[in-house]
Amino acid sequence: MAILGEHKGAVEHPRRVAVIGAGYVGIPTALLLSHFGHQVVLAERDDYRRSTMQDGRSPIIEEDLEELLRSVLETQRLRIIGDAAEAVVDAEFVFLCVNTPMGIDGHADLSFIDGACEQIKDHLMPGAVVINKSTVPVGTTIRVAAALGRSDVAVVSNPEFLREGTAVRDSFGPDRTVVGGDDLEVAATVGGLFALTGAPLVVTDAATAELIKYAANTFLTTKLSFINAMSQLCDALGANAVDLVRGIGHDPRIGFSFLNPGPGWGGPCLPKDSHALVAIAESVGEQIPLISAAIETNSRQQRHIVQRVQELAGGSLAGARIAVLGLTFKANTGDRRDSPALVITKLLRDAGAEITAYDPTVPVDASDDDVKGLTLCASVLEAARDARVLLILTEWNEFRELDFDALGGVMAQRAVFDGRNILDLDTARSAHFVAWGIGRS
Ligand code: UDX
Repeated sequence: MAILGEHKGAVEHPRRVAVIGAGYVGIPTALLLSHFGHQVVLAERDDYRRSTMQDGRSPIIEEDLEELLRSVLETQRLRIIGDAAEAVVDAEFVFLCVNTPMGIDGHADLSFIDGACEQIKDHLMPGAVVINKSTVPVGTTIRVAAALGRSDVAVVSNPEFLREGTAVRDSFGPDRTVVGGDDLEVAATVGGLFALTGAPLVVTDAATAELIKYAANTFLTTKLSFINAMSQLCDALGANAVDLVRGIGHDPRIGFSFLNPGPGWGGPCLPKDSHALVAIAESVGEQIPLISAAIETNSRQQRHIVQRVQELAGGSLAGARIAVLGLTFKANTGDRRDSPALVITKLLRDAGAEITAYDPTVPVDASDDDVKGLTLCASVLEAARDARVLLILTEWNEFRELDFDALGGVMAQRAVFDGRNILDLDTARSAHFVAWGIGRS
C-alpha cells in the first residue's frame, strides 16, 4: 500500500486523540491519525472487535485496513481499550464515531451518541474538543454540548465522507475536510489534524457542517435514482442505458461518476440519511419532494427488476428457482445493511420464487436473519443448478467473467439478468443465453 510510505509519523506537533467507536468511521479515523504521528486511544465496547484489532486483524472487510492497522500497532501510537471514560482522560481531541442507526419515523437514533456523552462527560480534560464524526441531525452539536454540560469543553462537527470498500484510500485522500463549530479557531485546529491529507478545509458553523453530510449523501441518491429511472425508460423504449450513460457522462456538468444504473442504492448511509433528511425537513415544516421521489424511485427500480426477472423466468415466479449472485450492498464489503440484493430477493420470494444465493462474503452456514429462507451456496455453479434465471445483484469481480457454457449445462433454462451491467451480454448470448441487463435487453 503506497500510502503507508508517505507521511509516516510526519506530524510536527503530535496531539493526544481519543476515538470512541471502532466501526466503519472510527477505525479509519484512529488509524489515519496515529499513522500521521498522533497518539491515539481507540475505545470499543465490543470484545470481539477489540481483541481482533489488538491481534492486528481487521473486524471488517476493508481493502488495506489490516496492513495499516499492523503498521500503526508497531509504532505503539495506537492503544485499543474498552472503556470510553478511560480513553478520554488525557485526550485533547475526542472523536465520537458511534453508530446512529435509523430510528422511528426516519429520524436518526442518537442513543449511542447520548450514551457516549454520558460515559465521558466527567472525564474530559478542561479545554478538550469533542468532535462529532457520526452522521447526526442538524442541532446535534448543541445537543452534545448540553449532554456534556461542560463549559470548558468545545464541541464541533466533522462529517465523514468515506465509502465502504475504499475507506482507507478515501480517508488518506479525501476530497475535502469539513469542520463546523461556533468557535472558528477551534474548528480550524481540528481541521489541522487532517492537514497531511492535503484536502481543502471547509470551516463552517455547526449546523451547516451537519447539513453538508446529508446534502452530499442525498445529492448522490438523486443522481442514482435519476439514472435508474432513465434505465427503466430505456427498457420501455428499447433504448440502451449503458450507451445513454456514455452519451450524457462526457458532459462535465453531469460526469460519469455515480452514474451506473443498478439494483438501487443501499448500504448503511444513503437510505438512512435520505429518510433522515426528509424527517429533518418535516420537523421544521419543510418538504423536499425531490428526496422523497428519489426514495420512491429506488423502490420502483427494485420492483422493476423483479418484473424483468419474472418475464425472463417465463411469466411467473411461482415455484421458479432464481440463482442470486451477490448479497452485499455493493462489492468489496461484507456489509448487507439495506442491501438492494436482499430487498429484491425478498420480493422474489414473496412472488413464490425459491432463491439459491452465492456471495463470496456469506458462508453457506450463515444463519443471520436477513439471509434466512435463502439457500446459501459455495459457488456460482452450485447456486445456478436447476435455476431458471441467473441474477447478478452485486458487482463482485468474479461475476464479470462467467463460464456460460458450464452454467448452461446445470441451469433449468439459459437466462441471465445482469443487475449491475458488468457482463458482456454478447458472450452470454453466444452460449445461447437470453441475456438482459439494467436498461438493456
Ligand atoms: C456513501 C457515500 O458515498 C459516502 O460518501 C458516505 O460517507 C457514506 O455513504 P457507501 O455507503 O460506502 O458510501 O456506498 P457508495 O459507494 O456511495 O454506494 C452507495 C450505493 O449506491 C450502493 O448500493 C452502490 O451499489 C450504489 N451505486 C453507487 C450505484 O448503484 N451506482 C453507482 O454508480 C454508484
